[in-house]
Amino acid sequence: MKSHAAHSTAELLRREFKQAEGRWVSGEALSRKLQMSRTAVWKHVCTLKSEGYRIASSPRKGYMLEGIPDLLLPQEVREGLQTSRIGQGEIRYRRRMESTNLEAKALAAAGAAEGTLVIAEEQTAGKGRRGRHWFSPPGAGIYLSLILRPDIQPQEAPRFALLTAAAVAAAIREVTRLEATIKWPNDLLAGGRKLGGILTEIGMDMDRVEYMVIGLGINVNLERKDFPPELEELATSIQAEAGRFFPRLPLVRRILESFEETYAAYRQQGFAPILKRWQSYAEMMGRRIAVASLGQTFTGEVMDFDADGFLVLREENRGPMRFFSGDVSFV
Ligand code: BTN
Repeated sequence: MKSHAAHSTAELLRREFKQAEGRWVSGEALSRKLQMSRTAVWKHVCTLKSEGYRIASSPRKGYMLEGIPDLLLPQEVREGLQTSRIGQGEIRYRRRMESTNLEAKALAAAGAAEGTLVIAEEQTAGKGRRGRHWFSPPGAGIYLSLILRPDIQPQEAPRFALLTAAAVAAAIREVTRLEATIKWPNDLLAGGRKLGGILTEIGMDMDRVEYMVIGLGINVNLERKDFPPELEELATSIQAEAGRFFPRLPLVRRILESFEETYAAYRQQGFAPILKRWQSYAEMMGRRIAVASLGQTFTGEVMDFDADGFLVLREENRGPMRFFSGDVSFV
């Protein structure tokens, strides 16, 4: 727990309001408790309001917190977050960013610690796998990037994509009760359509991984018609599948917790149990698929996922082939 001195006054005020649980708190009581003038209290109330908090004020009764915004504000993400590292350090948050992965890579290159998070409400140049664009409209999705500093060889990096997919699928299932599935390597699906994606990028120093950035995008509160025409048939959202709005904060917290648990399990027990869990969500064994990789398309039956998380395909003309990356479609 951090000491009070480490918190901004607006943060102390936010806690007071939350403790009051929707009751009026007098300006005078606040000014006494926080040892500042009533004008100063008012100024910090304005700061909170500018962040999106709905605060009523009355000359006689004081202030009352009427509602917290559905925003992924760092102090809200951290509140009640049951992790020890992930999300407990710096959380860089902006209403709008080009891409959280870009920002996270810059932070990581400048020395940011493991567990540092970058969150945006909107991305103007969200990046998908294979050079694609990631549709990131304001407030409707989760767009976050996590910085890790795992002590691994570059060859191990692809495992993290699968590890993350397993952790996120579990969290989505828990919170939404939707049967989220995974399409190799790390697409998150619901009802056969894409619900989210993961983009892992690494920074190398000689032959060691210096840092890893795990970018996660999830479509949360979008309706089908909100997607651009080219995505309408391919993409979906939690709201579209579940038929109701989902506040994003509990989902983000659960994702971070699930990730930390899975990452710890990987370090303690290795990749095999993670892969097993990943497989239970993937439902791909034995299915006929087409894999686009290296500018070609290969068709066949899924034989296996090997110890590194590579896809093993019984290609119809060539026999068994191994892929470490590619685009899969079911045929
Ligand atoms: C995919 O193509 O499936 C991966 C999509 C990854 C999107 C997320 S959104 C947050 C992070 N920042 C980015 O620019 N991309 C990732």
